Amino acid sequence: MPGYVIVGMQWGDEGKGKIVDYLTAEADMVVRHQGGNNAGHTVVVDGKQTVLHLIPSGILHDGTVCIIGNGTVLDPEVLCKELDSLDASQCAYHDRLFISSGAHIIMPYHKVLDGAQEKFRGSRKIGTTGRGIGPAYADKADRAAIRFADFVTPDLFRSKLAEILEYKNVLLTKVFDEKPLDADAVFDSYQGFADRLRPLAADTVAMVHEALATGKRVVFEGAQGTMLDLDHGTFPFVTSSTTLAGGVCSGSGVGPREVQGVIGIVKAYSTRVGEGPFPTELMDETGETLRKQGHEFGATTGRPRRCGWLDCVQLRRAAKLNGTTGIVLTKPDVLDVLDIIRICTAYDLDGKRISEFPTQVEDVARVKPVYEEMPGWKQDISGCRSWDSLPGNARRYFERIEKLIDVPINIVSVGPGREQTITHRSPFA
Ligand code: GDP
Ligand code: IMO
Ligand code: MG
Repeated sequence: MPGYVIVGMQWGDEGKGKIVDYLTAEADMVVRHQGGNNAGHTVVVDGKQTVLHLIPSGILHDGTVCIIGNGTVLDPEVLCKELDSLDASQCAYHDRLFISSGAHIIMPYHKVLDGAQEKFRGSRKIGTTGRGIGPAYADKADRAAIRFADFVTPDLFRSKLAEILEYKNVLLTKVFDEKPLDADAVFDSYQGFADRLRPLAADTVAMVHEALATGKRVVFEGAQGTMLDLDHGTFPFVTSSTTLAGGVCSGSGVGPREVQGVIGIVKAYSTRVGEGPFPTELMDETGETLRKQGHEFGATTGRPRRCGWLDCVQLRRAAKLNGTTGIVLTKPDVLDVLDIIRICTAYDLDGKRISEFPTQVEDVARVKPVYEEMPGWKQDISGCRSWDSLPGNARRYFERIEKLIDVPINIVSVGPGREQTITHRSPFA
């Protein structure tokens, strides 16, 4: 029963998509268990880039079963567009892509409300992706929502939609001064999506259990990152789902005993999109260099990502929160040009040295990072294909990270391409 979790250890965009695709070569099933199309997971195979938002990043491997689990929120229009792009690139997904009947549907009012709420928050905005994620999860918690099984059953979809819109239209018009939505018009415009997606409906819980019980290797693909977790992230500047490894259990219907390994994806520096505190953020030329060298622009919204040094206080917290058993270090090649590389090892909070990530966002905003410095390696590592061929200073940087977070390195990624990957110690060993 080997289940492995891939989890973002920072604020998202660590390179989860690339690593899930890489590991899928040795996996039978890939499961998305939370989030929606706020995610943008980039996979580059033979120079061709594919950005996936909801479809699991294992889809580019023939024969791998891909599951969109019950813990996700699903925008049917966006998913159909994603399927179009798979069709265009002749990636066959029929009979191996399945959607849980319990996945929640993102409806047009969720997207309108996401924008309207952000506008209302003004200077306190979260900087959401605007994809309706928060409002869709709020409706799930409020038990006033449409699930995938309802959506693909026309009578149920029609009646639930009419009932929900009665309330949503009051909210839209009276509170947010937005236009009301017409239930019939929404129903009609969504029927094409429902028809197309209906054949993908499945009892995915049974499928995942069947795979685990027959010794198949299942990879659970996390979206977003640890510090965006609804409970343990920098609340309220977080997303609305459980992004931690523990979310796998509720989001795909398995018990914790099914998880054999938790593989944490760590970018060799830090980035964050949207608002919220970011202790090691660089507002200077070095930050600009990281953004440029690392092409740090959002895969979903195109927004420039905020960049900063690696933060081992934050990463130690992430290792605890996820029970991380091994890490994958991505994008160290972006640091190739730097003379000096800094690592945050502790924080100063009001003159006191602390080594634990603060629980209150106001404190996170006030901490001053304490750095140690290491010399750069000043050479192109994107062509390295073995640990031993990496420059000494690069290896020393990686080993220092390993020591500071106290989790062993499994893999180092030295470029966006599938082949630009060095397995140091197999995470499946
Ligand atoms: P995800 O959301 O965690 O899947 O990450 P994104 O796809 O949003 O962002 C990661 C970006 O870095 C993508 O453009 C990837 O193609 C790219 N990438 C992934 N690994 C590496 C790497 O090791 N080096 C470089 N230079 N780029 C990488
Ligand atoms: P992947 O899977 C980076 C951020 C948004 C915003 C906050 C809330 O590609 O790593 P939301 O739309 O979820 O309500 O926005 O979360 N965010 C991400 N940042 N990578 C992501 O996904 C993100 N998904 C959401 O920028 O700050
Ligand atoms: Mg991303």
